[in-house]
Amino acid sequence: MSETTPLPAPEITLILPTFNERKNLVEMINRIAFALSGVAWEVVVVDDNSPDGTSALAKDLAQHDTRIRCIRRVNRRGLAGACIEGFLSSSAPIVGVMDADLQHDESILPRMLSLLQSGQADLVVGSRHVNGGSATEGFSVLRAGMSQLATWLARRVFRPDVADMMSGFFMMKRAPLEAIAPTLNPSGFKILADILASSPRSLRVAEIPYVFRPRLAGESKLDGKVALDFVGLLLNKITRGIIPARFIFFAIVGGTGLLVHLATLLLALDGFDITFGTAETAATLVAMSTNFFVNNMVTYRQARLKGWAILPGLLLFYVVCSVGAVTNIGAAMWVFGELHNWWLAALVGVAIASVWNYTLSSLFVWRQTS
Ligand code: GDD
Ligand code: MN
Repeated sequence: MSETTPLPAPEITLILPTFNERKNLVEMINRIAFALSGVAWEVVVVDDNSPDGTSALAKDLAQHDTRIRCIRRVNRRGLAGACIEGFLSSSAPIVGVMDADLQHDESILPRMLSLLQSGQADLVVGSRHVNGGSATEGFSVLRAGMSQLATWLARRVFRPDVADMMSGFFMMKRAPLEAIAPTLNPSGFKILADILASSPRSLRVAEIPYVFRPRLAGESKLDGKVALDFVGLLLNKITRGIIPARFIFFAIVGGTGLLVHLATLLLALDGFDITFGTAETAATLVAMSTNFFVNNMVTYRQARLKGWAILPGLLLFYVVCSVGAVTNIGAAMWVFGELHNWWLAALVGVAIASVWNYTLSSLFVWRQTS
């Protein structure tokens, strides 16, 4: 045993999720060190194997400063999942997260920390929507509109008392987070909304305003897929976990598949001299195939089939969907026989078939259990 005394344990672990933030990292950590001088802090950079080498830089920095750690995740993407893993790697009483691109204002860190340490709050949000906070500078008009809509929705569904549920900048006690960690959704951006939705209402939340700054280097990773992810999360929480977040994608893809089906059918009947049966079969095959490829690219992006694995996947998808089609017709006919309402019958048929297709294809085609 050596005689050296251990360094004091950190009071706070600050997570920096990164994807291609090499150019911002050094400045980011310098600013944190300055803002938190006098505090025993540690920073955990959680990097999803960025092509620009962010994790290599973080580990270099860590060689010279024990307050810096880095988790390099491979074959995975996702801001929420990165935050969760970072939080769970901490043993400090308080954990926090902020963007690594200098858009969040580090000067409010000490106030956030003291609200938690004095016991006045269990969770503190850096907020753009309370007096003194704003997001106009760092946002495009479209982004600002989207963000407002999402905030409005989330407040209706989760916690009306929290103004900026979309914030990626917050700090909280580690204990309540450890308790809910298994229920959190690792996909998407909305980690705070998820935490609030999964926590007991007794969790006391405070908000501190700050001004969201424009990004200097690199680019935003928030895209349309992220917005849809959020709709999925809302649906999942409203139905208390009954409807999986991914189902929403599957349903949208299915809806576009219906359009493809009708278009092919029209084209085949119009352009070729074939029977309705043949045209219908062709349309079904085309729609199933496009659905398969779109689902493979979007819905199951993380479990995407590549190369030769696509072929058995596609065949399996055909099988699953054709059984779905039979159940669809069976259910619709039963409802029609009972209630004599054609559109209700059709709706029930489609609903049952999509749940069937979703469940079986996630289990067998893309092999997911959640
Ligand atoms: N590890 C990891 N994996 N980090 C990621 C990923 C990912 O898949 N995607 C993004 N990040 C990191 C970025 O490198 C950055 O440090 C931070 O997460 C925020 O990502 P941005 O791409 O800069 O997000 P933004 O500025 O468009 O969005 C901001 O506003 C949203 C609310 O409208 C962020 O503050 C979000 O957290 C916030 O929800
Ligand atoms: Mn950003």
